Formats: sequence, C-alpha cells, structure tokens
Amino acid sequence: MCGIVGYIGFREAWPIVIKGLKRLEYRGYDSAGIALIDNNDLNIYKKAGKVKELEDFAEGQNLTGTIGMGHTRWATHGAPSDRNSHPHTSNNGRLSIIHNGIIENYAILKDELEQRGHTFNSDTDTEVLIHLIEEIYKNEKTDLLEAVRLALKEVSGAYAIVVMDQDNPDELIAARKGSPMVIGVGQGEYFIASDATPIIEYTKNVIYLNDNEIAFLKRDELLIKRLDNVVQTPYVQELELKLEMLEKGGYDHFMLKEIYEQPRSIRDCLRGRIYPEEGKVQLSGIKEFVDKLKNIDRIIIVACGTSWHAGLVGEYLIEEYSRIPVEVEYASEFRYRNPIITEKDVVIAISQSGETADTMAAIEMAKEKGATIFGICNVVGASIPRLTHAGVYTHAGPEIGVASTKAFTAQVTVLTLIAFYLAQQKGTITNSKLIELLTELDNIPDKVQIALQSNDLIKSIGEKFKDSRNCLFLGRGSGFPVALEGALKLKEISYIHAEGYPAAEMKHGPIALIDEEMPVVVIATKNSSYEKVISNIQEVKARKGIVIAIVTEGDTEVKKMADYCIEIPDAAEAFLPLLATIPLQLLSYHIAVLRGCNVDQPRNLAKSVTVE
Ligand code: F6R
Repeated sequence: MCGIVGYIGFREAWPIVIKGLKRLEYRGYDSAGIALIDNNDLNIYKKAGKVKELEDFAEGQNLTGTIGMGHTRWATHGAPSDRNSHPHTSNNGRLSIIHNGIIENYAILKDELEQRGHTFNSDTDTEVLIHLIEEIYKNEKTDLLEAVRLALKEVSGAYAIVVMDQDNPDELIAARKGSPMVIGVGQGEYFIASDATPIIEYTKNVIYLNDNEIAFLKRDELLIKRLDNVVQTPYVQELELKLEMLEKGGYDHFMLKEIYEQPRSIRDCLRGRIYPEEGKVQLSGIKEFVDKLKNIDRIIIVACGTSWHAGLVGEYLIEEYSRIPVEVEYASEFRYRNPIITEKDVVIAISQSGETADTMAAIEMAKEKGATIFGICNVVGASIPRLTHAGVYTHAGPEIGVASTKAFTAQVTVLTLIAFYLAQQKGTITNSKLIELLTELDNIPDKVQIALQSNDLIKSIGEKFKDSRNCLFLGRGSGFPVALEGALKLKEISYIHAEGYPAAEMKHGPIALIDEEMPVVVIATKNSSYEKVISNIQEVKARKGIVIAIVTEGDTEVKKMADYCIEIPDAAEAFLPLLATIPLQLLSYHIAVLRGCNVDQPRNLAKSVTVE
C-alpha cells in the first residue's frame, strides 16, 4: 500500500516521478505528492485524489530539479486530504520524507517531540519520523545518513522511506523494513520505487533492498549498509519485465486485458513443469524438499482475499490426489491465534504481490515454530519469496488491475501442479491417470480461450443485472471457492453486495433472501455434485429467484430451469475452477463498467496490502 518513487541523476525528475506514480497507482490512490529540489529550494506539490489531480494542480508551476521523489497514498493514519498527503517536511522545512508502511510507536514519539517544541501539520504517523530525523540531525551534529539510521533504530513498524535534504541536493537516503523497495541502477543516475515498474524504461539493472538496509545515493555513488552500520555489497539483478506488459494494449481496462491474458498466463505457468507423455510434474523450486514432502503430516495454506480462495481450491486438489490433510487459514487470523505447528508441517503461503503484511507475519510465525514454508507468488523478488524456504512462481506477469484475475488462475494452476507432484511422489496416483490428467491440463489454456468467447453473452446478462443490489453465488466442492471468488469480484469492483455460499448451505439461512429480485449465480457444471446442484437450483426457482448458471457445454438439464446459462468447455473435475472462474470475472467486469465504476481502481482498495 502506498507507492513511492525517487530519482537522482541528470534528467528532470518530475516527468520520471509522475510517470512512476501512475504506474504505482494500483498501490493506493487517496492522494499524491512530489518533492523536488531546485537550487537548494525544496518545492513540494501535493493533492488529495489521484495522480492526475496532482498533475493538473502542478501545471504551470516550477517543476525543475534533477532530484525528486513522489508518493501515492492509501490512507491509514489521517483522512485522505491535501495536508495528510506525502511528502511531509521537518519543522525547519529543510528535510522531507515519503513513506510506505506504518510507524507503530508514532504516538509516543510524537508526544516526546511535541514536548521538545515540534509542531505537526498532519495527522500522519509519517510526519513524526521526519521530525525525529530532524531532532537527531540537530542534536547529534551528524550527517543525514547517520541521522536517518539512528531515527530508524527508534521506530517500530514497517517502512519504505525516501528522505531528501534541500541543503544537500546531491543525495537521497532510502531505507526499508517490511515494505518493498527497488533501486534502479543507471549511468550517473539512480531510481527508487516500490516495485520495478517505474524503473523498467530507464534501466534493467536493479537492486532489491533488504529489510533493515539503508541506502545512500548520489548521482554516481551508492552505499548500502544495515541499520547496525555494517556495509553491504549490493547484488545487482537484471529485470525480466517488459514495458508492454505494463500497458493496456488496446483494452479499455487492465482488468479486461488481464482476463484475456489467461490462456497465455496459464500456459506460462505450466511451461517446463509438466511432461504429459511421461506423466511427470517437475517443480524445481521445491525439489530439494521432496523427502520431507513424502512424510509430512499436513499442509497449512495461509493467504488473504483472492489468494485465500485459491488456497481453498488447493485444499480440494491436494487432499483428493495426494491424500495429505490440508487446512486453509486466513493469514490475518492465523497469525494472532496460537496455532499448533510442528517441524513436520509444511506451510504454503500464497500471495500475488508477495508483500501482504498478514501473510508475511503468518510466515514468520510458522517459521519460528519450525515449519517448512513454501511460497506461491507472482511478483519476482518480492518479500514473501525471500522469507520462504522454497517456492513456485506463478509467472502470470504484472497484474495491474486491483481486482485479481489472472493471478488467481495462475495460483490455482500452481496448486494443481503441487497436488499432482505430491501424488506422484507419494504414489497415490497411477502413472496412467497422471498422463491423462496432465494431457488435459496441457489443453486447459485452449479451453480458457473458448470460455472467453462467451464475452458478448455475459455482457448482455450483465446489462440485466447492473442495477441489482444483492447477488448470491453458489457452488459445491471446488465450485464453492469459485463461488466465493465470483462474489468477491462482483462486490469489490461494482459495489453490489454479493455472497458466495456452498450451495447446500443455502437452506440454512441465505434462502430467506431469495425473491424475484435476487440473482443467484450457480456453478452447475457436470461433475460429481451435478445432481445435487440441480436440486439447489430448483430450491432457488421455487422461491422465484433468478438463476444464472455456469454449465458444461451441451448441457440440457440445467437449461430447462435456469434463466440464463453460460457454457464452459467440458473438463475433468480437477480443472473446473480454472474454467468456471472465467465467466464470473467477465460478469463482474461488465456489471461494474455498466455501473460506471472504476474497475481498475475500485474505491478504498489497494493492490498491495502492506498494512495489517
Ligand atoms: C481481490 C484481491 C485481494 C487480494 C488480497 C491478497 O481481487 O486482489 O483480495 O487477493 O489482498 O493479496 P496478495 O495475493 O497480493 O497477497
């Protein structure tokens, strides 16, 4: 949450920083601000609202300076407003800071600083940090780097910060703990950002700063040290990201582009990992743990939101094929319980961003208790892959729409591979069955492509329900997490209240909601619970509910009773979630667009939830 960008070099900083903020806007869009130094003058522009509003506000003003930094905010402490926007400044107006994260002990620090005469101009935790740096800078008679280092030793919480000093216009200080930060290395210039997307068009060489590291950047010098003052050797990596991955590519929205990318993203996720003719799955990321995997007592999956739904699909698949018991936990609940975890447990943490604070905390706790931790992550180089013992990347490519789509299907694909891999290792599946399943899995991207062909039909159905106030999603077996995911997609981008339910649970309460105005989306594909789902549809119809059914192509039974049917290709039950999710994503998308909602940046949300 919150995006930060910094630049020091020979080019004008404003265009680099503003463009970078647009790329990072998915991280938060409550307010935006930029600080520039021009001839020892610190100029700050900040505005509540989106980056575009900042751009309009700053037009015509002095935007000169080859050193600058910017911030796009997802509000935690203090309402979204001009005064709470970053950058924040010290009392003497000389120092400024941008910050992503939360300073947990800010209230105590603020009290102390107020007693020493500091006055505050915002309600944020961040402002406290720049006053603290100012205080240390003044009292310790040291340089800025040391002042920042000493100040950070006094704060608890999470941060990625950049600090500038108008009296030292040739240096930037950056530091991180718990929030992401990448440094782009150019010729005579450096870039700083929350992820690599603002950097990619200037350089492919990056350094991922580690927790508790602080970087001192001049135009032609970089020094990284730890908070305990030990100097570090920077590890420069080459980015695989391509610029076109960050563009809408002719689609109206990133979300639609990402929905349509799924045949490609699932294929990328499978590439080099399945050998259908041999009936073999290869997961090099977790290979070295194979002996341990054969003897584990259980798997605990931890995740949040959509990733948690993918985890629920994983539970069905892993238990079905490898017969290892699986528990799926909300990371935010798990971390605050005192769960029973032993060295014989494997914890799988799922996260698109790799930065979700609750998931990270759950990993740390399970690690302390001796569990082996695997990660399923999309963003290469993010924090979660670095916290885990091993893992599997989803390779879905950058997901920019705030609502997760292709990341979900890629996570489900990886979990499918893990289920088959474990089954193969434990001997709970025959080779011929594995050949059959892998052959079909190899073909799933083409089936996803076919599922996408229902787009126009789905749009016309969306038109009928765009004014609905509520919607129920029902599914059984692995169709249940798909129903949960369908409901989450609809509510988060269209603001229609939606709930996902196991179809059979409906009669234990939600059935009371059904009347002639209630759309009920039912996953009614031909699988082991088909007959049961048909009974549930009849229960809905008997109460005059409107049924929108996701059915297997050629279905005739459900068509007799449902009001609308959307077909998906036939597939083995294991692959149902990958296909049934597609029409639900499109349905939410079209309803949200028809309602005039901002589908890529829904209100109150941010893509990377780095606060708990
Ligand atoms: C919903 C959505 C969120 C995320 C959740 C976890 O569309 O995107 O529910 O799934 O915030 O994020 P990650 O996967 O980055 O840990």
